[in-house]
Amino acid sequence: MACNKVLSVFRPGLFTNQVAIVTGGGSGIGKAITRELLHLGCKVVIASRKVERLNQSADEMKQELDKDSPAKLLPVQCNIRQQEEVKLLVSSAMEKFGKINYLINNSGGEFYCPVAKMSLKGWNAVIDTNLTGTFQVTQQVYKAYMKEHGGSIVNIVVDNGNGMPGMGHSGAARAGIENLSKTLALEWAKDGIRVNNVAPGTIYSDTAAANYGEFNLFAETIPYTPAKRLGTVEEVSAAVSFLLSPAAAFITGTTIAVSGGSHLYKNQCFEIPDHDKMPAYTWGKSEKRLLKDAVTGKLSP
Ligand code: ADE
Repeated sequence: MACNKVLSVFRPGLFTNQVAIVTGGGSGIGKAITRELLHLGCKVVIASRKVERLNQSADEMKQELDKDSPAKLLPVQCNIRQQEEVKLLVSSAMEKFGKINYLINNSGGEFYCPVAKMSLKGWNAVIDTNLTGTFQVTQQVYKAYMKEHGGSIVNIVVDNGNGMPGMGHSGAARAGIENLSKTLALEWAKDGIRVNNVAPGTIYSDTAAANYGEFNLFAETIPYTPAKRLGTVEEVSAAVSFLLSPAAAFITGTTIAVSGGSHLYKNQCFEIPDHDKMPAYTWGKSEKRLLKDAVTGKLSP
């Protein structure tokens, strides 16, 4: 085994001689992905804005590697909003390892805020990081290596199919990424590149727990998850490894929900208060009143 702390259902050595970039690879889901790729023999470049935590995580994960492991790990500080920093990330990977077979766009960020209260600055920040950042890293990796040699790209989005009340900026950005993935699956198929998404439901990680603060997202969402439990970062990572692997050679332009079924179930933990504001389709008397009365039993035939 390349790393004695990690369990993976995939065969050790599966990604030997392969090189991956994982943005946000120093914490949470990104760290779990990095660990599994290393375990499977991959050379991994991890990127984050926060260099201290990145280096600390890199040291930790390097220490977990067996001495004879072919895996290697290179941390690179990078703000994915800045084109020059993205170019430097990609050129660092090329200089160190000579190729980039896999790209996992996992960096992202958001904050809770209903759309009505959202500032333009806050909106732009989330769109810039999640959507435009993904575009920038993807385009640079394409130009630097994948255009000539093919590759596999996995974008980590979120389960956004029912909207994301309280995080409209993030939902819009992630839906944008999913659509971009479909476009790229078509535009870059001729180059031998597959592009897919993994959409996690509610996944426990220490990083997420610290970010959510007082709002206990974890406890709130379990009733809305058919699996009646939270997901783990390793379960997201397993889906990524599958999509990168030859087992997914015929899969492109799709999204795997790692959500315990929550993407099919009720809309998160968002309550809509009782109200009488929805306009009626009027063609004479108030249909709005009549339809409410039908429910309360007051409607006479
Ligand atoms: N994680 C959150 N925001 C980021 C950014 N702008 N660049 C890289 N990683 C990030």
